[in-house]
Parts: sequence; C-alpha cells; structure tokens
Amino acid sequence: MSDQSSGQIANVLNETRRFPPSDAFRQNALISSFADYERLYHESVSDIEGFWQREAREHLHWFTPFDKTLEWDVPYAKWFLGGTTNVSYNCLDAHIHAGRGDRVAFFWEGEPGDRRVLTYRQVYDEVCKFANGLKKLGIRKGDRVSIYMPMVPELPIAMLACARIGAIHSVVFGGFSAEAISDRNNDAQASLVITADGGWRRGKDLKLKETVDEALKKSPTVKHCVVLNRTNNNAPMQCGRDHWWHELVANEATECAPEVMDSEDTLFILYTSGSTGKPKGIRHTTAGYNLYAKRTFQWVFDHKESDIFWCTADCGWITGHSYIVYGPMSAGATQVLYEGAPNWPAEDRFWEIIERYKVTILYTAPTAIRAFIKWGDEHVEKHDLSSLRLLGSVGEGINPEAWMWYYEKIGGGRCPIVDTWWQTETGGIMMSPLPGAVDCKPGSCTRPLPGIVPVALDDHHREVGEQQGGMLCIAKPWPGMLRGIWGDDARYVEQYWKRVPNHYLTGDNARKDEDGYYWIMGRIDDVINVSGHRLSTIEVESALVSHPAVAEAAAVGRPDEIKGQAIAVFVTLRNQEPNESLKDALKKHVRKEIGALAVPDDIRFTAVLPKTRSGKIMRRLLRDIAAGKEGTGDTSTLEDFSVLAKLRGDEES
Ligand code: WTA
Repeated sequence: MSDQSSGQIANVLNETRRFPPSDAFRQNALISSFADYERLYHESVSDIEGFWQREAREHLHWFTPFDKTLEWDVPYAKWFLGGTTNVSYNCLDAHIHAGRGDRVAFFWEGEPGDRRVLTYRQVYDEVCKFANGLKKLGIRKGDRVSIYMPMVPELPIAMLACARIGAIHSVVFGGFSAEAISDRNNDAQASLVITADGGWRRGKDLKLKETVDEALKKSPTVKHCVVLNRTNNNAPMQCGRDHWWHELVANEATECAPEVMDSEDTLFILYTSGSTGKPKGIRHTTAGYNLYAKRTFQWVFDHKESDIFWCTADCGWITGHSYIVYGPMSAGATQVLYEGAPNWPAEDRFWEIIERYKVTILYTAPTAIRAFIKWGDEHVEKHDLSSLRLLGSVGEGINPEAWMWYYEKIGGGRCPIVDTWWQTETGGIMMSPLPGAVDCKPGSCTRPLPGIVPVALDDHHREVGEQQGGMLCIAKPWPGMLRGIWGDDARYVEQYWKRVPNHYLTGDNARKDEDGYYWIMGRIDDVINVSGHRLSTIEVESALVSHPAVAEAAAVGRPDEIKGQAIAVFVTLRNQEPNESLKDALKKHVRKEIGALAVPDDIRFTAVLPKTRSGKIMRRLLRDIAAGKEGTGDTSTLEDFSVLAKLRGDEES
C-alpha cells in the first residue's frame, strides 16, 4: 500500500546520535535510571486511576478530599470528583504553612534593568491585596477576567488573585491587537480587564492601555479596567471605569480567604488559534490541571530546592501558565522572570541574566535558539554559564543541528536537553525525556510521561508500524487535559474527538523508532505529498538546517501537475548573502541527507520567516506564497515576510 492511501508518512531522517546523562547528573536526579522510569511508567498505565489517585492525595492540598478519581464519559473527563481545593492555596499558602515563606519566588528583571526580588510571602501578600481589590470591583467566582500585561510580577499576581477568588482568567498575550482583545472579551463575556499603562520591549514603551481603550469600545460586557503603572506614560483614565492598581489595593488587607473550588470548576480559559481562524477558548479546570502542571514540572525538570528555574515564555502562552505560574509555584520553585527582548540592549541579554542569577535550568523555544545561532557564538562566550545543569525546549520541533548547538554552546556538553512535546490543550508536558533516566536523541521528544498513552494511527485507525509516521493520538484521559472549548461544545467534539473514535486527536503526526522513542513530524495539515510519498516538514527542514550556511528553514508543498506536490523551501542564512550556487549546494545537501525524493524544487531565501506571535513558523502562509497566491517576484532576492506576518498573524498564537 502506498503511503498515500494508508495515511502513513515516510520516515526519511535518520538521526543516530544519542546522549545519556552524565554520571554526575544521574546520581543527583530524582528519577535516575531507565529502569526506574519504566517501572513508574508501567505502574502508571497499568492502573491509571489508581496512579493519579495516589498522586493527587499526596501532591495537592485538599479542603475536602475527593471521593471519585475519574468519570470518563467520552469525550468528557471529570477528575477528583467531590474534592475541593484552591490553586492559589497550593501555590502560596502551602509553602508559607510549611515554613518556606521566605524562599524567593521571583528574581524579576525589567528590560530597562530595574530589578525586584519577591519571596513567596510577598507574593502571597500582593495576591491577597489584589484579590480583595477585585472583589471590591464586584468580581465573583465564575466571572471572566481578561489580563493583558507585560511580563512583570503583577502578571502572575493577577492570575493567582483570580484563582484565589474563583474568577476565570483569560490571559491575552501583550503583543495582540485591540481587535484580538475585544474578540476574546466578547467570546468570554469578560467583565473586567487588567492591564498596564505600558511595557518595555526593545527600548520602546508599548502602550498597552491605549490598545485596551480601543478594544473596550467594542467590549460591551467589560465594566472595569485595572491599570498597573509600569512605564508612567500618563495613560488616559476613564472615570468610573478605569482604576489604578496601586490605588485599588492601597487599603486592602494582606489576607483573603481562598474561595473553595470544586475540582472541576474552571480555572482559566486560554485562546489559541484554530486553522479556521476563530480563536478557541481552551478551558482548563482546577485540581486536575494543578496536579498535572506540578508533577510534570517536578519530573521533567528534575526540580530541587537549590534550582533557579528560568522559563523564557510569556505568561500569555500555555507555557507561561503551566511552567511559570502553576507548576513551578505549586512546587515552591525559585524563578527568574524577565520582561523584555533577548537582544536588548545587546544580543547577550539572556546569557548575562543566567550569569547574574546563576540559573540552573533554562527552558526556551527553538525560535529563540535559532536566533541565538544566527547572532553568533561571541555573545554566548562572553558569559559564564557554568551554573546551568539542564536545558529545555518547547513550542516546535527542534532541528537536530540546533539541538547540538544548544547542547554544546549553551549547555557546555554537560546538560541534558528536555525536548518537551505538548499543547495548550494538554495542559502540561506529555512527552519528554526524564533527564536522569532517558537518554536524549537530538530532535526526539523521546517518551511519554507517567500516565500518558500516545499512539500513532493511520487513516484506518490502526497503529502504524515502527518508523512509520501517523496521526498522533492520546488513548487515555489524563488530569491536565482540556475540558472543552469555551461556549462551543460542538467544536470541541469536532476538532478533537471525531476523526478517531475514543482517542484525543492531537493534530500532529509522529513516528516511533526502534527504541520506542517518539519523533514529532509536524502538523497533519502540513504534510507534503510528493508522488504519493508523504513527507514531514520537519525532516526536510532539519536536513537544510544541518547545512552550515542555514539558520532556519520552512518547507511546504505547492501544487505540481506531475508529482501532486512539489517541495518549496524558505531559508534564512547565517551571516551570509544568498546566491544561486548556494541553491545548488543546498539541493545536493538534501539529496545526500535524505535522498532524491526530498530535494526541494524551489528554494527561496528570506531575511525572516513569518512566525506566529509565539514564534512558530507559519507554514500555512508560506503555502499560499509558494502556490503563487501572493506576489512572487524574483525568487533569488531576499524576501521580508515580517510585514506579512504582522498583517496576517494577528490571530495566530
Ligand atoms: C508544536 C505549546 C515538536 C506541536 C506548548 C503542538 C512541538 C503545538 C513541540 C502546540 C515539540 C510543541 N516538538 N512540536 N517539543 N512542542 N510543538 O498550543 O505542533 O502553543 O501541537 O503549545 O506546537 O502548540 P501550543
């Protein structure tokens, strides 16, 4: 059967390098051998309910214990029924009661260089004061609150204050437009917006309040707006509607009893783009999400009290929700929080921060890693990064050569890399090496975490063979899974549960290798079909990135009369001007790395690739361009897609 008719995808990339953790890393790791991982995994999946029941009893504080672990009425899961808790209690009160209130929660650094240090006790006080302020404005359990803020400590504080009083937050990334904010306000029927006058980005004051004012003209449900004074830019305040944060909390008490929340009460909604345009409000609930964020943080990052953890994501993405706010804070972690851009005032800002705070764990995205590679090693070499012991990656597949650079240049060849595969919908990391137990292979997210049952299926819902790519599905419910799409149940069913019965459809393709390692092959919709052979975008891209001249690459299919689809690639270069002979060299290189089948028909050089605001390459846009749906022009000239991305990428997260 051809790949075409079965829905299988050819595996053409053969990555054989393997990196076990060092003995020193292993000796101190929480899970320190492959046998221990396997035991934990098998124990978890042989009795999923029993496993999560024990985890939930041990790792969350309960006001009332739950009496039923799981109710699974496909596709609706309810976890820990009958139990009550509060996520802000687990993130704050629990540590203070355990005598750890003086631990640093955040080392914060603003882009202009201003710094603050906040202990758990101080965060607790601010959360309580702000929660009381929100109550004063009439916010109650179940109300929706939009948050549109820069990366300042008040952003996690606002999220935790909502959680404390049972209000449902919807964080909107601080780079989105007024239109995107009002769409989300209206979909969620938000009654309050929390923002700041501005935030610093590459030396500029982004006037967030002005954007919110624009959005509020079209947000009839919003009654109040709370404004943090961050940049002191004299933001206009509308009397009766707008309130300064510092005035709101001025006389509030530093105690606020946590609302008693049912396990399945909604904690937050987070909008993510769908392929059809209208953003989906992914809904996560209280106990299951909290447990999953906490435990995956501890497992994957091998977290210890002595660690200084830095996740460079913005709180506006799920990565910031789960691995800045809810996971690390439930675990009592000490973190670095940074407001601004990685290249401000210079390209070594991240390395300077790591050196200053002696960061031990860095969690960032492939788009950032590729930018660092492009900027050059000299920025890295200026700084002492010897405090690092573990690195992480999230958001896209990481090309093996980018992985190697990260491993050698940033990790000094001593830090395992946790390539974490997951989604807004999954609430937390689903597949990743446990760094003391599972050897890394560059480009593979390796193995499922405890309790997670992935499976790659063909179009007939049969499991594909070893090294064959198929639709990645999850066969069993897990506590962190989304509970629905806000206000659109039909779409929830349609999107995730219809194509394959009884399985959660991730929308990604994946293959499993002979060692049982998973390799994510990109989105199902992005597969390139050349003469009936289905190729994954990431494999063609990784072959290109392994050429020394290439910084980034995006591969898409364009219609071709003979082959069905031809391969078009868009390439950005590392400190080099494009020329025709380089095109031939790249074609030869792909032929050598993968084979004739994957040799690109069109190669176009570009200064930047169009990206979503969270940094993912937008192949959908490039498909249109490759198909000639946009002005093509001279293909050898450098193209600049940044404007295009800004115009069209607004709804993309
Ligand atoms: C992609 C981000 C390969 C994937 C947490 C997924 C990845 C989508 C990886 C979810 C990875 C994320 N390797 N691909 N390690 N991590 N992806 O909702 O296509 O912003 O479905 O969540 O990003 O993106 P989201």
